[in-house]
Amino acid sequence: MASGIDAQTQYGRRRQAEIYLEGLRGRRPRVPADPVELERRAQDAMSREGFAYIAGGAGLESTMAANRAGFERWRIVPRFLADVSERDTSVELFGRPLPTPFLLAPIGVLEMAHRDADVGAARGAAEAGVPFVISSQASTPMEQIAAAMGDAPRWYQLYFSSSNELARSFVERAEACGCEAIVLTLDTTMLGWRLRDLDLAFLPFILGKGIAQYVSDPEFRRQLDGAEPAPAGRPNLAAIRSLYRLARAYPGSTWRNLLSPEPRAAARLFMDLFPRPSLDWDDVAFLREATRLPLLLKGVLHPDDARRALDHGVDGIVVSNHGGRQVDGALASIDALPAVVEAVSGRIPVLLDSGVRGGADVFKALALGARAVLIGRPYCYGLAIAGSGGVLDVIRNFRADFDLTLGLSGCVSVEDVGPQRLVRSA
Ligand SMILES: Cc1cc2nc3c(=O)[nH]c(=O)nc-3n(C[C@H](O)[C@H](O)[C@H](O)COP(=O)(O)O)c2cc1C
Repeated sequence: MASGIDAQTQYGRRRQAEIYLEGLRGRRPRVPADPVELERRAQDAMSREGFAYIAGGAGLESTMAANRAGFERWRIVPRFLADVSERDTSVELFGRPLPTPFLLAPIGVLEMAHRDADVGAARGAAEAGVPFVISSQASTPMEQIAAAMGDAPRWYQLYFSSSNELARSFVERAEACGCEAIVLTLDTTMLGWRLRDLDLAFLPFILGKGIAQYVSDPEFRRQLDGAEPAPAGRPNLAAIRSLYRLARAYPGSTWRNLLSPEPRAAARLFMDLFPRPSLDWDDVAFLREATRLPLLLKGVLHPDDARRALDHGVDGIVVSNHGGRQVDGALASIDALPAVVEAVSGRIPVLLDSGVRGGADVFKALALGARAVLIGRPYCYGLAIAGSGGVLDVIRNFRADFDLTLGLSGCVSVEDVGPQRLVRSA
């Protein structure tokens, strides 16, 4: 390997050298650095339905476009002659030092990207020392994901279902398997109107995908006891195929599942429990009581909600519009960030996701007051292309890009990154 380039303080240069030296042997990166090409290559590796589910957003997907446009409106003002030969990209979150200001966002149904699903993504995150946020809609029970991570940092993202007992059980399991924070997602009290999925008439959960946390949960299993299966209706070829897919996705032997009413009953119970349109601040208070772990609210877009979160003893906020999957026409998360940061005025960390596609986006989010960002779709695409190694490559590219952006803008650490580094263009 190219010597003389320190792996920690010169990460970006080292990654460039790695890639260009491989080029001398005629090898191009299997996981493209260009986010557009990354998505295209992942599409080739996924089923039509899987790609639609991951890539799609709500309605006309204008929120997804706004997320990108929001980042583009902020421009970095580089400064020079500042000796940037040694750089430090590390940050601290809830007492845990992290090599970079990134986490992997909670993403459900990763089995649609790759058969290694959450375990593959978690391994990539663990190797990079980047916290992995385990999703409530994961394809693998949280205990198995945690077991694959050793001591590496992980958090748990909670969808507060219609059952308080189930929510409590999820939190207890997350605590038991070493999660270091609980992230309550606020914005998915119902599923958004997602045109790509609607027009394919495809929802993974009905086919038993993405419900592993539920079917492995003692409280869910208690409620499942005696629950009615969904009516099978008049069978046709497609219905039989769907039953087969459900039987395959459900834990246990496919043959036994085909003969048993349980998988259909579980899918139905999940569909009954999943949404909680009644979610309100009392539920936040319930959760605050239920755990001693740091509690974050994900999906905050208004400063008043941030203030109220402080009143409820919340420890952190994730500014997010769920990657544009919930409200079409919502504001960009980067545009919501400054007011939330001001409302919180340094009392708790503010994180951000939605539309983060490269080092410049990370820089801009930090400059506007975020402590760290969550990487979303790009790591799913890395997973789809090359499993856990693909996730690791995506993280490495983010780290290199951020490190170079930091230095080339005249900064040597994240403390140097503030609003004075940006201007807003028309
Ligand atoms: C396929 C998919 C599934 C997701 N599942 C969850 C989830 O289970 N829980 C959650 O809080 N957010 C979920 N999200 C939202 C992400 O955590 C994150 O907010 C979003 O991906 C950020 O947008 P970006 O990917 O465009 O950067 C999901 C996003 C995608 C694309």
